[in-house]
Amino acid sequence: MKVNVGVLGAGTVGGALVQRLLLDRIQIREKTGVDLELKVVAVKHLEKPRSFELPPERITDQAMSVVSSPGIDVVVEAIGGLEPTGELLLTALRSGKPVVTANKELVATRGEELFEAANRSGVPLMYEAAVGGGIPVIRPLAESLAGERIDRVSGIVNGTTNYILTSMAQDGRSFKEALEEATALGYAEPDPSDDISGRDAAFKTAILARLAFGEWVAPWQVECLGIEAVSRADVEAAALAGKVIKLIGVAERVGRDISTRVSPIALDVDHPLAGVDGVTNAIFVEGPAIGRLLFTGPGAGGQPTASALLGDLIQVASRRNWQGKAPSYRRPRQVLHR
Ligand SMILES: NC(=O)c1ccc[n+]([C@@H]2O[C@H](COP(=O)([O-])OP(=O)(O)OC[C@H]3O[C@@H](n4cnc5c(N)ncnc54)[C@H](OP(=O)(O)O)[C@@H]3O)[C@@H](O)[C@H]2O)c1
Repeated sequence: MKVNVGVLGAGTVGGALVQRLLLDRIQIREKTGVDLELKVVAVKHLEKPRSFELPPERITDQAMSVVSSPGIDVVVEAIGGLEPTGELLLTALRSGKPVVTANKELVATRGEELFEAANRSGVPLMYEAAVGGGIPVIRPLAESLAGERIDRVSGIVNGTTNYILTSMAQDGRSFKEALEEATALGYAEPDPSDDISGRDAAFKTAILARLAFGEWVAPWQVECLGIEAVSRADVEAAALAGKVIKLIGVAERVGRDISTRVSPIALDVDHPLAGVDGVTNAIFVEGPAIGRLLFTGPGAGGQPTASALLGDLIQVASRRNWQGKAPSYRRPRQVLHR
């Protein structure tokens, strides 16, 4: 069962996914029965050096030609931002192509419209990579916990700010020094304003709220305070008081309402989130039947995020009855232990 894949964007995340599709195609086919054929990759700058090798005819700077090509079965988006991604994904969904995306800003801001288009065409829109990087948290919330009452989802959902706060607390750096270090290591974007202002965490908190409570929360409805104003003195004062400052996103039920916010909070050192350091993310999901579940792991980076895209891609490819044929799973080979 061959599925033709078009990838939009080949930067940190898209580039890592392309590498996986090129290197692991056979292994994925043997394990899952799904043959993912990377047909074409769309980028902005054709001349840029890449971390993978593809013949020139399989790289284009015309992303719209990928989403509207009849030769593409599934579109993966790793460009980011609201446009042209919004138009690209709507075009793909309206023409009956399943979409897999890592774009939290787009899902948080225009999710309702995108899901409506997906539902109309009867195709999936998957976004595991949009929250928590490589941590599987979207599908557990959407599927495994679908029947549960969830009271609260909260945690560290931005790796860049967590790296900066960790570096300030553990290495005595100023905010500026820690941000420079995060940029040099590739953890912060060239323009890190969405991260440090808390906007990125607000996008993710809005998405988690939608999954937990079944209602769309617009990102601008999330009360948002970033870490720009957190100084080394604040971090030191917190340490003296036995606390650690973390940027925390919260979505919770308050009576009949939903409250969503992102802000720096001084946590007791023995709080489970206090020891979550660097780019690691950690998300608590709380409800009467499940108690408190913790999802934690690498919250950013090319490889972890590409892993989430790949998982979604395989899900999409194996659920759909492509070309009228159900996926055939290989029977595991028997291992004889002597
Ligand atoms: N980085 C992470 O750790 C991480 C984690 C989770 C989710 N995400 C999400 O993943 C997405 C991608 O992030 P990233 O860090 O990989 O970004 P990035 O490194 O800046 O890569 C963006 C890619 O999109 C391409 N692009 C830009 N405009 C385009 C256009 N009009 N048509 C075709 N291609 C275009 C760029 O092309 P050129 O290479 O030619 O410039 C580049 O390859 C974003 O939504 C981000 O929020 C990222």
